[in-house]
Amino acid sequence: MTEINTLSAIEVIPSGKALGAEVRGIDFAQPVPDEVRDELVKIWAEHLVLLFRGLKLDDDQLLATAELFGGQQAAKSRDFFLQAGVKPGENDRVATRPGITIISNVDTQGKAGVASEADRSLSLKWHSDNSYVEVPPTGSLLHAHVVPVNGGGETSFNNQYLAYENLSDELKAAIEGKHCVHDDHRNTSAKLRPTKKPPKSRHDITGPSHPLVRIHPVTGKRALYLGRHYEWPSSYIVELNDEESEALLAKLWEAASHDSLTWTQDDWQAGDLLMWDNRCTMHARAPVDHSQARVLHRTLIKGDPVISAWDKSPAAAE
Ligand SMILES: [Fe+2]
Repeated sequence: MTEINTLSAIEVIPSGKALGAEVRGIDFAQPVPDEVRDELVKIWAEHLVLLFRGLKLDDDQLLATAELFGGQQAAKSRDFFLQAGVKPGENDRVATRPGITIISNVDTQGKAGVASEADRSLSLKWHSDNSYVEVPPTGSLLHAHVVPVNGGGETSFNNQYLAYENLSDELKAAIEGKHCVHDDHRNTSAKLRPTKKPPKSRHDITGPSHPLVRIHPVTGKRALYLGRHYEWPSSYIVELNDEESEALLAKLWEAASHDSLTWTQDDWQAGDLLMWDNRCTMHARAPVDHSQARVLHRTLIKGDPVISAWDKSPAAAE
């Protein structure tokens, strides 16, 4: 029998890109000893996005995996649907278990062709999951149950440590000490969330204020933290006026989404589990052909408070 969930069984195959690695020798359906979990935390800190293949996790096992890495966190998007009167279990986005989000375009018989609200979009913009809450999730776990036979829905990731490092000295100086309000009005396909009205100015924008650069608590490194960006009025830099904010955010987004920072999971297979770090990466999704079934289950790993690079406390020192 092949050994699993031991230190010697772990095999790491880096993507060769700016981030991402496949990890073999792990099955989260089986017990994971502490020393193996600790080793995975180190591997995660080094590669930012980990791909595990050939797993078959039910929702309880997926949630237990989140618990291994710090706990589970319900998606804020769930609250918007609940506030709009959707009952748990009625809608894929409001699964019976609060920690699970179902991303599906199939009906109750498993037939493709219907799409949940978010999946009706052709693509999803670059974002860091739930950046629009005060304490965003540390990471996310996305497990593929059914994938389209002809591809589609590829997921790309980018390395926001490098995005920060690559900024010009001028841009680094321009963002020093600045914060961004992360707009919670729209979902990642830029549609208004249930219960939200179109904002008319920055005063209508709700969401937490986060530093433009955060410190990763495990690596101690600085990462650019932009969250997501929509048409004005939307996320804005607190310390700047509207025009200055939009101009600086445009430059930062260009730097943050540069091709050289990216790795793409372009061969999704049923059984894949992707685990990514929302503190130092963003992700985006390519168009999905909704005539083909696609079902994934996601859970969020419980967050820890954002450490500001502008905080002078020892934890934020470089
Ligand atoms: Fe996401």
